[in-house]
Amino acid sequence: MSERPGAGQFATAALSEPAGSDSAARPALTVRLSVPGAAQMRLLGARLAGVLRPADLVVLAGSLGAGKTTLAQGIGEGLGVRGPVTSPTFVIARVHPSLRGGPDLVHADAYRLGSRLEVDDLDLDADLDHSVTVVEWGEGLVEGLATGHLRITIDRSVAELAAAELAAAELAAAELAAADGLENGSAAGAVDGAPDEARSVTVTGYGSRWEAAADGLRAALADRLR
Ligand SMILES: Nc1ncnc2c1ncn2[C@@H]1O[C@H](COP(=O)(O)OP(=O)(O)O)[C@@H](O)[C@H]1O
Ligand SMILES: [Mg+2]
Repeated sequence: MSERPGAGQFATAALSEPAGSDSAARPALTVRLSVPGAAQMRLLGARLAGVLRPADLVVLAGSLGAGKTTLAQGIGEGLGVRGPVTSPTFVIARVHPSLRGGPDLVHADAYRLGSRLEVDDLDLDADLDHSVTVVEWGEGLVEGLATGHLRITIDRSVAELAAAELAAAELAAAELAAADGLENGSAAGAVDGAPDEARSVTVTGYGSRWEAAADGLRAALADRLR
């Protein structure tokens, strides 16, 4: 063995992963979930918040409108930070201070960043070691900010797109009924205007942090979202 004595297995694994390229590394865990609507996406975020610790990095992947900000809102609620958590469209990142002495939430949007993000680029009045950092569109850009991270990928699968079309048809029918002066119950889940449709969510943990916390994370995500 060429490693220096005392270098633990975890430290060795972390050192052998070049920053930013650990997407190729074997994940510590992968959990797949089906999330039927926006409220459940927020609930998922709140459950994730229960296992998140200061210095954690969460990278959110998924197309426009997938639900990344909705998930970040749930994380913010679960952490008990000052809101509102909204799409950080005109700033790269926003700091949401904790209202109960826990970690702050740093919510960032890397959409317009063309290259790898350095801590200095965030230009934050926040210490990432004492915050939970959640980055939308951060895949392949921000992983070097921490030695491990959670990647959460939100997809609309083909089956879910078909279900969404059906839901849209039902919503259109409900709107017609509402226009006729009838009660419109089916649009109740659509707080922001976009109707609920199922998302497939893949949570993948990388690095020693998530090797150590894999069981806790699995337990936090085990209950059905309803
Ligand atoms: N299952 C779901 N999970 C999350 N959001 C959903 C879901 N179904 C419908 N929505 C709606 O989709 C939109 C997601 O928007 P947002 O979270 O801003 O996406 P992103 O940040 O990925 O662009 C919201 O209007 C939300 O109400
Ligand atoms: Mg967003």
